[in-house]
Amino acid sequence: LCVLLSLRRRTPGEPPLENGWLPFLGLALQFGVNPLEFLRKRQRQHGDIFTCRIAGKYIHFITDPFSYSAVARRGRHLDWNKFAYELSSKLFGHHSMDPDAGYTTENLHQTFLRTLQGEGLVGMSESMLENMQSVMLRDSDRSKPVLGAEQESPPEMARQRRCRADSAMQPSCAEDATHLLSNPNCVNLIKSDSRGQADRDNVDTPAYKNKGESVSSSSDIQITQHRSAQTDALIRPPQSKPSPLLGHQGLPTAWQQNGLYLFCYSIMFEASFMTMFGKELHQQNSPREHRANINSMQKNFKTFDSFFPALVAGLPIKLFYWAHSAREKLAKELKQEKLYERHNMSALIALRIHLNDTLSRMDDMGKARTHLALLWASLANTLPAAFWSLFYLLRSPEAMQAARKEIKEVVGDCQWKAGELLKFSEEQLNRLVILESVIKEAMRLSSASMNVRVVKEDFELSLDSNRGYRVRKGDDIALYPQLLHYDPDIFHDPLKFKHDRFLGDNGQEKTNFYKNGRKLKYYYMPFGSGITMCPGRFFAMIEMKQFLLLVMSLYDMELLDSEEVPPTLDQARVGLGILQPATDVPFRYRIKPTSRSV
Ligand code: HEM
Repeated sequence: LCVLLSLRRRTPGEPPLENGWLPFLGLALQFGVNPLEFLRKRQRQHGDIFTCRIAGKYIHFITDPFSYSAVARRGRHLDWNKFAYELSSKLFGHHSMDPDAGYTTENLHQTFLRTLQGEGLVGMSESMLENMQSVMLRDSDRSKPVLGAEQESPPEMARQRRCRADSAMQPSCAEDATHLLSNPNCVNLIKSDSRGQADRDNVDTPAYKNKGESVSSSSDIQITQHRSAQTDALIRPPQSKPSPLLGHQGLPTAWQQNGLYLFCYSIMFEASFMTMFGKELHQQNSPREHRANINSMQKNFKTFDSFFPALVAGLPIKLFYWAHSAREKLAKELKQEKLYERHNMSALIALRIHLNDTLSRMDDMGKARTHLALLWASLANTLPAAFWSLFYLLRSPEAMQAARKEIKEVVGDCQWKAGELLKFSEEQLNRLVILESVIKEAMRLSSASMNVRVVKEDFELSLDSNRGYRVRKGDDIALYPQLLHYDPDIFHDPLKFKHDRFLGDNGQEKTNFYKNGRKLKYYYMPFGSGITMCPGRFFAMIEMKQFLLLVMSLYDMELLDSEEVPPTLDQARVGLGILQPATDVPFRYRIKPTSRSV
């Protein structure tokens, strides 16, 4: 009776309301089984907006894509941060990153904008390309040493020793950012004032093509990620002393079998981790130890990540021994004292270390957990997105042929010459529009994110239909883009993979999509929308193009079953972004004859 009495009643002017019968959970279980069908059914019943009680929250779902702009316009009444801050603290166990909570004055959003666009993005992209190749070439023959572990040129070794000495003399970056400044692999922090107001209107800056603009305009901090002498040495090893890896003749030629998801996961995990957090500065770890360490992190990441649906639903992590243990192990690896031992880290992490040390009151583990949150953000969607893109390419000969033709025209033969890694320019990557369409289409089919805003005060939300609905302070407003990604009015035959769906008649990116004859502003949202849109989206597109380019160049690959139907989407992760495949897909691969002399 108490439960019934505590349930909300719909008052005049409010959207249609469904409470559900379960205490606290409300409609959570029905929603969780198949959110798309759950929402479609209610859309048919109630129309463009309705309210559901889910896990203790009242959520107003907006189902009409023309009304998404109405939500975007109501920034003053909606808190886009609260949800993300609360969720992150709950999942990763750090204190709130909301400056109002008093644990830090860092403006996180500004940190992301400053480092994931412009020069920071260029540095990350270059680093990712090298790291992916080092992992792929090393993994092609596990007897070989890890690229980067044993290839310091003498002057570089001297510089690294100096850098180590510097860091030994400086107990904390809080006292001075010289440690980072002295390490040209990291960043130049010229002046920082992290409380600067974020330029929220910049979030829609077109990808990579406009890099730099939004960062430098109002920014009082400049960040540059330099290519290190060592990095250069990796790409152009001294002719007199061929590297142990590059210049090696005769990579294995036999077919190897693997699960496609596992294959993508391992490469992307290791390469992304090194790109974000750098490589070990002290080279005391043998390649075998490096591998063991990465494997253990990957295992812990997978374990922790597999508990995400339960944790997001509000269950405390202490209930899950394995999740808690995996999270703590990962966080320990990311403690700042350990990160000081790494070099060539991304501008993002270098800046975050500095700001953690100067502006945060969190303890060492708290700071480490904020890094873990970023590790998760950088991987959780990219890993399955890389899988789906490669899967659909392998499954569709037409797509593969079109992508190969484009690659040949834009990048050329993509063959490794002894002693050199492949490099792709920004301009070349931008011109790979077919590959981009493949990736976008793969993400359209597999994305199930939910964009949530918290209502800051009671107000009336006017939808596109011009009808207004009253919403209450503390409620959530949610957009569920899968409704639009699977809408047959917008995407003809929506369950079908069409590699050229995002290509216009002129062979360029297609941006005009219609519903009921009206052009849509919001038609594609795997990266979210508006001010909360993923700040890593430019990097994500670049790294996925690089990944596909490299695997298609290095390997012959085929699915074991050429009629393989796409694996079902793991619905447990609905709301979190790109869904993982419920089962892995067996495939086989071998080094291409043309790449065997790498
Ligand atoms: C947030 C998607 C890759 C960093 C988000 C959000 C989505 C998303 C949907 C939430 C947006 C919202 O709340 O409206 C994706 C997808 C990716 C991807 C689909 C790859 C396929 C990356 C990468 C990075 C990154 C590679 C970093 C290198 C972040 C961060 C946030 C975020 C830091 C939180 C932003 C904030 O709270 O202000 N991402 N993401 N993401 N993403 Fe990504």
